[in-house]
Amino acid sequence: MRILLLTHSYNSLTQRLHAELAARGHELAIEFDIADSVAEEAVDLFQPDLIVAPYLRRAIPESIWKHRMCFVVHPGIVGDRGPSALDRAIQDGVTEWGVTVLQAEAEMDAGPVWASETFAMRRTTKSSLYRNEVTAAACRAVLTAVERYASGSFDPMRLSALSPLRPLLKREERRIDWSCDDTATVLRKIAAADGFPGVADQMFGEPCHLYDAHAESTLRGGQPGDVIARCETALLRATVDGAVWIGHVRRHANSIKLPVALAFPEAAGVPELPLANWWAAEGETWQDIAYRERDGVGYLHFEFYNGAMGTQQCQRLLQAYRWALTRPTRVVVLMGGADFWSNGIHLNLIEAADSPADESWANINAMNDLAEAIIRTESHFIVAALQGNAGAGGCFLARAADQLWVREGALLNPHYKNMGNLYGSEYWTYLLPARVGEEGARAIMRNRLPLTAQAAVERGFADARLSENADIFFAEVVRRANELAHAEDFSPRLAAKKERRAKDEAEKPLSLYRAEELAQMRRNFYGFDPSYHVARYRFVRKSPHSWTPRHLAPHRNPGWQQPV
Ligand code: COA
Repeated sequence: MRILLLTHSYNSLTQRLHAELAARGHELAIEFDIADSVAEEAVDLFQPDLIVAPYLRRAIPESIWKHRMCFVVHPGIVGDRGPSALDRAIQDGVTEWGVTVLQAEAEMDAGPVWASETFAMRRTTKSSLYRNEVTAAACRAVLTAVERYASGSFDPMRLSALSPLRPLLKREERRIDWSCDDTATVLRKIAAADGFPGVADQMFGEPCHLYDAHAESTLRGGQPGDVIARCETALLRATVDGAVWIGHVRRHANSIKLPVALAFPEAAGVPELPLANWWAAEGETWQDIAYRERDGVGYLHFEFYNGAMGTQQCQRLLQAYRWALTRPTRVVVLMGGADFWSNGIHLNLIEAADSPADESWANINAMNDLAEAIIRTESHFIVAALQGNAGAGGCFLARAADQLWVREGALLNPHYKNMGNLYGSEYWTYLLPARVGEEGARAIMRNRLPLTAQAAVERGFADARLSENADIFFAEVVRRANELAHAEDFSPRLAAKKERRAKDEAEKPLSLYRAEELAQMRRNFYGFDPSYHVARYRFVRKSPHSWTPRHLAPHRNPGWQQPV
């Protein structure tokens, strides 16, 4: 079928649906929902058999749904209606939730149901649920709905009685009452608003929005709401029955999200609790880098918010990595975070810096130092285990490892050009062609499309795809890492890896790859063309799109032939 994805943005759910539907042989195009007339024009050009709206912030125009079949993905169970579906489910503490694919009609979320899926609610943030359970359920439901529509014989279910539309969750309903909300309630409220819009609150007497909260199981003190400690960039606030760590804030409506201790200079005066070492702490707390060890294998977790890796984070991770290599292990698995493995340099910190160009330069060099340390490791086998998504430089940091294993359902975007034609570094010019060939590398960079786990393995970018279920994924990572560490031929394999590296170095030193890439990056950061700075400005401020990029919208390419 010819399917048009009408969406507010090319977010992770849209990317996954795009890739999954294309893999099933459908002809796909994307159109961003900018204005009725623009969407109408896209429909006219592409002549879709079906329109799917995975992520919209307003209703599909009548001029479209009256004449074409339109499926809307609603992140709620059958019968649920309204714009804050997932936020309310988290805030209400429901134990099971779901996704429904409805046919668009005049009344919002009220059309016939073509498919639905349910899932158990995990105690986590809205963004995490959206990127995992909701995305997986939405994919299953959309694929079922598409098959049902294609069969021509399916009779969708029309609900006999409509439940009332639940309105947008208001700021007041999200507000924390520090004088009576316990730790669990504070965590739930921030989790329900994570990503966007955050919880409106105050810190150091200033208004701000809170994000990225973590439980603390041992530390106590102060009056509820007080800031009582700092660890790296997070601050600990007292609650009526304990304390919670706050990782990120947005200070004004039009400012960007930043680590809280950097957003408030007052944080410098808060007593610091330095992380004792790299070992994963007992109990619940905030710890962005945490090391675990089991059966001769080291597991290095780095839970950086949104997968963004600033200069200091890269430097601290490099220290932790070097320390991990001193342990009596044979394999180190780089685990990344639960939702993102890495999304490359930290665009928000760069945007907030006095000189974004200088901070970009420092950040890419810190990323490169880390990638280089991984590539040059001779003492261990290094595995990158991607439970979550990876983008841009984060993908090549992962590829710097000897093995790259991806969880089914995770998405990889191993290209840079979407960020204002950024050339990219992280030794991609060394790492990518070696895996996918020169033409394969050019195609990945040019196409700028996400790779599913399956596509990443088929193209040769990844080495294995593991179970979508997080628990099974971990068990598979442990089993494979153990096999690697205890393989009879471990020593000859390690020797062969060393030899390969030496041969590569003799052919072309790593320092030359780095110098060539950085020469291009210098132009991106300091040169005449401001595209990267403009793209970053728009990305971190979430500026609305005013057109759909050509690589997503074949119907807008000059050579496009309208189907007859
Ligand atoms: N720096 C800072 N923040 C980043 C980031 C980065 N490199 N990459 C992603 N984020 C943030 C987004 O702003 C968003 O923030 P929010 O919590 O306020 O909504 C959040 O992470 C999730 O990103 P989103 O774009 O919604 O996730 P996605 O899964 O739909 O898309 C990517 C993933 C990787 C395609 C997309 O995030 C992206 O293009 N990131 C930039 C990658 C990049 O160019 N890095 C720099 C070059 S190395």
